[in-house]
Amino acid sequence: MSLRVGVIGAGAMGADHIRTIATSIPAARVAEVYDFDVDRAYAIAQPVFANVATSAEALIDSSAVDAVLICSPDDTHAALVRACIAAGKHVLCEKPLAVTADDSMSVVEAEVAAGRQMVQLGFMRRYDPGYREMRKTLRDGQIGTARLVHCLHRNVSSQTSSTSEGIVTGSMVHELDIVGWLLDDEVDSIRVESPVAEGLRDPQLATIWMRSGVIVSAEVFVNAAYGYDVRCEVVGTSGTVSLVPPTPTSIRRAGMDGVHVRDDFIGRFADAYRLELGAWAEDALNGVVHGPSAWDGYVANVIAEAGVASLTSGVREPVTLAPRPTLYSPIEYS
Ligand SMILES: NC(=O)c1ccc[n+]([C@@H]2O[C@H](COP(=O)([O-])OP(=O)(O)OC[C@H]3O[C@@H](n4cnc5c(N)ncnc54)[C@H](O)[C@@H]3O)[C@@H](O)[C@H]2O)c1
Repeated sequence: MSLRVGVIGAGAMGADHIRTIATSIPAARVAEVYDFDVDRAYAIAQPVFANVATSAEALIDSSAVDAVLICSPDDTHAALVRACIAAGKHVLCEKPLAVTADDSMSVVEAEVAAGRQMVQLGFMRRYDPGYREMRKTLRDGQIGTARLVHCLHRNVSSQTSSTSEGIVTGSMVHELDIVGWLLDDEVDSIRVESPVAEGLRDPQLATIWMRSGVIVSAEVFVNAAYGYDVRCEVVGTSGTVSLVPPTPTSIRRAGMDGVHVRDDFIGRFADAYRLELGAWAEDALNGVVHGPSAWDGYVANVIAEAGVASLTSGVREPVTLAPRPTLYSPIEYS
C-alpha cells in the first residue's frame, strides 16, 4: 500500500518534493496538489498524474488523501497543520512550524489534545548523511567531549529571508534546530549581531550558549553572492568532526585549484530531502512520528524569537521554554 499524499504549495520546495516522491519514494505517491496559482498547480500535478484540489481545506479533507505535505509560505503553516490534526491526518510541514512561538504552541496544544503525534517538521538536515555521521561520531565519543561548534550558512541571495528578522526565523532556524540535535543538548541563551546597522542586517553572527556549556558560533549570510555554502565543525577535547561539502570532483585550471561551489540548497540537500520524505512516508503508513516533531518546531521558534530580540537589544537573551508535554519524548533521536 502506498501513502496518498496531498501537497499544498507547488513552488520551489513543493515542486522538488513532488518530483522526489514520484521518482524515489516507493512508499508514497502524490494524489492531490493545491497552489494559490492554479496554472502552477496543474503544471506540477499533471506530470505525476495527480489531481488539482480546489482549496487547501478540500485537499486536507479529501478521501483521496492519506497525509499532507505543506510547502506553502511560512505564515500559512500553523493553521494548515492544525486543520490536518483536526482531520486526523499525518502531516510533514516545511519549516518553520509557525511564524511565532505562540502560534507554534497552538499546534503543539492541538496535537496534545488529539492524543497522538501526527506532525513532522521539515528540518531535513537531520536526515543529511553528513550531519548524521557527525552526530554518530559525537555519540560514539570519537572526539571526546564537545566544547565548541562553528556553523556557517551562506546563500547566493534570498527572496524568502528578506528582512533582518526573517534571516533568523527563516534561515538561521536550521542552525538553531541542528545544534541541539547534534549535541543532544538544549539552547540556554543566544546573542545575534550584525556588522550592518541599517536596512537588511546581513550577514549575522549568532553566539549560542548550550545548557551543557558548549558555545556555538553561527554565521548566516543570505546574500553572500558566490554560492550556497553550509559548513559545520564540532570541536571536542580529543579531535574535531566537520561536514565535508559533497562534491565529486576538483578542478585545476588557469592557475587555480579548487572545487565547484553549488548555488542551491535543493541540490546540496537532495539526499536529505529524499531520506526525509521516505522516512516520513513509512512512518505515516505506520501511524507514528520519529522525525522532528511539532515540539521541535516550537523550540526552534522560541530560540529564533530570542535571537530576534537580541538583534535589537544587542545583548544575550535567555531561551525560556514551556514545560514539555509528555506526548513528546525528551530527545528526538531520529
Ligand atoms: N527545508 C528547506 O530547506 C526549505 C528550503 C526552502 C524553503 N523552505 C520552506 O518551504 C516553504 C515554501 O518555500 P518555497 O521556497 O517553495 O517558496 P515559493 O515561493 O517558491 O513557493 C510557495 C508556493 O506556495 C504558493 N502559495 C502561496 N500562498 C498559498 C496558500 N495560501 N495556499 C497554497 N499555496 C500557496 C505560491 O503560489 C507558491 O507556488 C516555505 O515555508 C519555506 O520556508 C524550506
